[in-house]
Amino acid sequence: MLAAAEIKPALVQNENHPFFHWDDFQEYAAKENVQIESWYPLGGRGFTQNYFNNAKLKPIAESYGKTVPQILLRWQVQKGFIAVPGSSNPEHIKESYDIFNFVLADKDMSTINDMQTGHGNFNMRF
Ligand SMILES: NC(=O)c1ccc[n+]([C@@H]2O[C@H](COP(=O)([O-])OP(=O)(O)OC[C@H]3O[C@@H](n4cnc5c(N)ncnc54)[C@H](OP(=O)(O)O)[C@@H]3O)[C@@H](O)[C@H]2O)c1
Repeated sequence: MLAAAEIKPALVQNENHPFFHWDDFQEYAAKENVQIESWYPLGGRGFTQNYFNNAKLKPIAESYGKTVPQILLRWQVQKGFIAVPGSSNPEHIKESYDIFNFVLADKDMSTINDMQTGHGNFNMRF
């Protein structure tokens, strides 16, 4: 697309969450100055409960006094991604905004990065 487009895309939206991230594409987008917006930042409807109950994420969330969804969203913003979680629950929406008053330590970011499975829930990679 970059070779053909007259106007360079400013942003691309791909499935992107701790359990599925394309590191090579993230590096490429950063090099090309194209912003990544995370498609399904919490893993997507129908999959979130597996992640919210993850045995490694729960103690991390407890150590910051946050919920697992907040930890997942904080990972997104610390990685430099735009994350717009879907919710129809006012309490969840409020909670999702409350992620700008703490910072995940490098060791926790690494633990969360390493949860990569290589398998997307809505895999569209060719
Ligand atoms: N470009 C496209 O074609 C396309 C298509 C689909 C989706 N998207 C994008 O993907 C994003 C969202 O997709 P999505 O809603 O399917 O997936 P998601 O954001 O990964 O997950 C949404 C799920 O998480 C729950 N949730 C959200 N915040 C929560 C919180 N703080 N605590 C607990 N649960 C929480 C929601 O339940 P509750 O409602 O109960 O809170 C919902 O079940 C949007 O940015 C949307 O634009 C893009």
